[in-house]
Amino acid sequence: MENYKRLLRYLRPYRYRVALSVVLMFVVTLSAIPMPLFQKQALDVAIPKRDVGMLWSIFFGVIALTGVRGLVSYALNYLIGWLGQRVVFDLRFQSYRHLQRLSLAYYDGRQPGKIMARLTGDIDVIQYALTQGFVYLITDVATLVIVILWLLYLNWKLALLVTVILPLYVLNYKLLLSRIRVVSVELRERWEKMISTLTEKIGAIAVVKAFAHENYETEQFMETVAANFRLGMQQTQLNRFLGATSQLIRMLGTGGLLWYGGALVLQRQMTPGELLAFYSYIGYLYDPAVRVVDFNVQLQWANAAIERVFETLDTRPEIIDAPEAVYLPTVRGEVEFRHVTFGYDPAQPALHDISFHVNPGEIIAIVGPSGAGKTTVVNLLARFYDVQQGAVLIDGHDVKNVRLESMRRHIGLVSQETILFSVTLRENIRYGRKEATDEEVIAAAQAADLHSFILELPDGYDTKIGEDGIKLSGGQKQRMSIARAILADPRILILDDATSALDSHTESNIQASLSELMKNRTNFVIAHRLSTIMNADRILVMNEGRIVDFGAHSDLMARPGIYRDLYTEQFKTVGDLTEEDKARLLVAVGAG
Ligand SMILES: Nc1ncnc2c1ncn2[C@@H]1O[C@H](COP(=O)(O)OP(=O)(O)OP(=O)(O)O)[C@@H](O)[C@H]1O
Ligand SMILES: [Mg+2]
Repeated sequence: MENYKRLLRYLRPYRYRVALSVVLMFVVTLSAIPMPLFQKQALDVAIPKRDVGMLWSIFFGVIALTGVRGLVSYALNYLIGWLGQRVVFDLRFQSYRHLQRLSLAYYDGRQPGKIMARLTGDIDVIQYALTQGFVYLITDVATLVIVILWLLYLNWKLALLVTVILPLYVLNYKLLLSRIRVVSVELRERWEKMISTLTEKIGAIAVVKAFAHENYETEQFMETVAANFRLGMQQTQLNRFLGATSQLIRMLGTGGLLWYGGALVLQRQMTPGELLAFYSYIGYLYDPAVRVVDFNVQLQWANAAIERVFETLDTRPEIIDAPEAVYLPTVRGEVEFRHVTFGYDPAQPALHDISFHVNPGEIIAIVGPSGAGKTTVVNLLARFYDVQQGAVLIDGHDVKNVRLESMRRHIGLVSQETILFSVTLRENIRYGRKEATDEEVIAAAQAADLHSFILELPDGYDTKIGEDGIKLSGGQKQRMSIARAILADPRILILDDATSALDSHTESNIQASLSELMKNRTNFVIAHRLSTIMNADRILVMNEGRIVDFGAHSDLMARPGIYRDLYTEQFKTVGDLTEEDKARLLVAVGAG
């Protein structure tokens, strides 16, 4: 029940419209009452009396009543439609805003398709439950009470006889609906699965093709679609069966009414007009009866969707500003890790007791084999995750006590995987700093050695990336991402394998601008190339989540350790190799 109360809160801002729609509903409900009376009047009074004038009035009465009823119904449906769409709007907007705030850890263990299903299908179910469910419940109950009382008043014996049919009708519905729902739940789950499969597999189509798994994937998908087909057919069949049986029961009601009511008319206890009116009134009862009895089931049905949506909304973002968090207008760029232990899964630390101190303006290379924890270190520096033990400090402030937004503005990250959006090249670069001018964007592209390439494109900077635009190579993407970082102009710059996809020619082209970029900043460079590493002031050597050495190239070479071993074994023994070859070797070392 808590869930529904909370859901109803979404209607609160629009309570006047809700109130208005309730009023309109009563009008619609009540306007149903006179219609059968017109029938009765025509049959019992106007026709026996051969009163054409009265028939005309009845005719106009019916037209007027229908007209009013139509107008009010239109207004009502418009209102309910508006309320439903508005709640969808609010829920979607709120969920999306919340999803933006949630920490990376929330996304680590979740399929994007499942999250998408919540924002689409689930919210639609909620809309339905809220408007059709709650709002119609009021009219339905009103209709039932008013019409049944009215029937009892008209002829209680006949009323009792026919209303006996109602429970039968409702029971049949309930039995069949519960079976239909089982199928629907399964259908929904399949649907959610289908969406996540589609997002994942279409997104990774290159992998599928690289391993020539097209047929395999098609067959896998075939199973999902086949299950959807089977369940869909089951649902259709059950629905048809439900339609047929309820029709049968209603006919039973009509038959009983004609049989008993006809006898009453013969005994002159009832007029033919009353019988006809009775017949019409009974018709008003079936649908509302089913909906009222089914209401709680409908809510249960929506409950699963409501819970999923609220689960997202209730997930607290783990990385949030502490109440006393300070705002950092400027940052010098001093970085310290103090006994940091961290694991994406706390039970399995990826970093063990890491401590190091970096002065403002230093260039730090982080080296180590794959999985050593290099990216994890920079993830913590940018506070994408919170440490389990110890502290990460920027300018002496624990990052947990700094306003996130003020801190991230000073940190520029060129990450290992470049993500570009399906917008123009200009907008992609400008993502680094939204308010940058066109000239600044071009300057950044020039520094990243992209300008001449972009100018050669027919649409230049307005060329779109993605679906209806160009595809970029790995190296071009990396340069886009470097251009973004240049534009962002951060105090602390993190380059995570930022030049791995560049050929040595391009790299040396942008080396100058990279060195320029690194000036007056604190830089963390995760790299495998010897040239980049040797440019660094100090080198942080990592292995299996620990720091195994930290110092300048010459210091590290002066003492025995992993770094010297790697260096001497891999480079000195093959004395007269070119820098480029050495770099390739170092890549091999890194990969090992
Ligand atoms: N999002 C994540 N969730 C759970 N575990 C993760 C996540 N990212 C990394 N890990 C684990 O943490 C460890 C360190 O990973 P990290 O990405 O820091 O390595 P790396 O040194 O950057 O390697 P590479 O050179 O391949 O990029 C690895 O064992 C990895 O499996
Ligand atoms: Mg990495």
